[in-house]
Amino acid sequence: MAFRLSSGDVAGFKVLFCLAILYGLMSIIAYSVIHMKFITPLGLDAPLDRFSESRAVEHVRVLSKEIDGRQVGRQGLREAAEYIKTQLEKMKEQAGPNLRIEIEENIINGSFTMLFLGHSLSLAYRNHTNIVMRISSIDSHDTDPSFLLNGHFDAPPGSPGAGDCGSCVASMLEIARLTVDSGWIPPRPIIFLFNGAEELFMLGSHGFMTTHKWRDTIGAFINVEASGTGGLDLEFFCHAGAYQLGVQPASGSW
Ligand SMILES: *[C@@H]1O[C@H](CO)[C@@H](O)[C@H](O)[C@H]1NC(C)=O
Ligand SMILES: *[C@@H]1O[C@H](CO)[C@@H](O)[C@H](O)[C@H]1NC(C)=O
Repeated sequence: MAFRLSSGDVAGFKVLFCLAILYGLMSIIAYSVIHMKFITPLGLDAPLDRFSESRAVEHVRVLSKEIDGRQVGRQGLREAAEYIKTQLEKMKEQAGPNLRIEIEENIINGSFTMLFLGHSLSLAYRNHTNIVMRISSIDSHDTDPSFLLNGHFDAPPGSPGAGDCGSCVASMLEIARLTVDSGWIPPRPIIFLFNGAEELFMLGSHGFMTTHKWRDTIGAFINVEASGTGGLDLEFFCHAGAYQLGVQPASGSW
């Protein structure tokens, strides 16, 4: 039996064909708008009042390639803390007279009990390191309501930790540098918390939120986590905020 198309079938196939082309074009446009319209990254020589991806990537390179192993308990974690502190000290030297910059290395100890996979888990820890920087105007007070930006510099087991979370530290360092170099005076203090123990049940956050003198001033926070590992690349997770949410926002307006 010969297979014959009627003229109506031919018209139908033409419409289907056109629809397929139209769908293809729409997919290409949607894909390019969502996934390919990145802002042009700036190089190492970008003006100091701009965020430079190259400067940030340089931090990622040092943290994940030059420093070996940023897992809790390894020498690399200490070296990373020293690297971060050195970068922050450099910023402090460059800062204009209207900025007040405080840098601290905090050794934290503590204990808590939590529910984990249906089991009650008690944790006690000592000697973890957080690096904290607070940028505020010269006439700010310790009790002023502040904004917290948190990211961790320890790495997951068996990983150089470029995405998790060298990228977070790198972005935070570049943002801190930008804040200082641009001459902008933050209307409220900004606290940068370089958190030294996240992979182990977020001990670094616990230590900060239970012991630090600025903990009650925090009215808002952003936690940066594992950015740049694929797809749309900035993710803000709230998990380190579990402890932070337990804190009353400081009085005062933002
Ligand atoms: C934690 O313990 C160390 C000594 O092991 C001490 O130097 C440090 O001040 C303690 N940190 C806090 C926040 O109490
Ligand atoms: C913590 O650090 C202090 C001082 O650096 C040291 O004396 C102590 O042994 C450390 N504790 C632990 C549990 O590692």
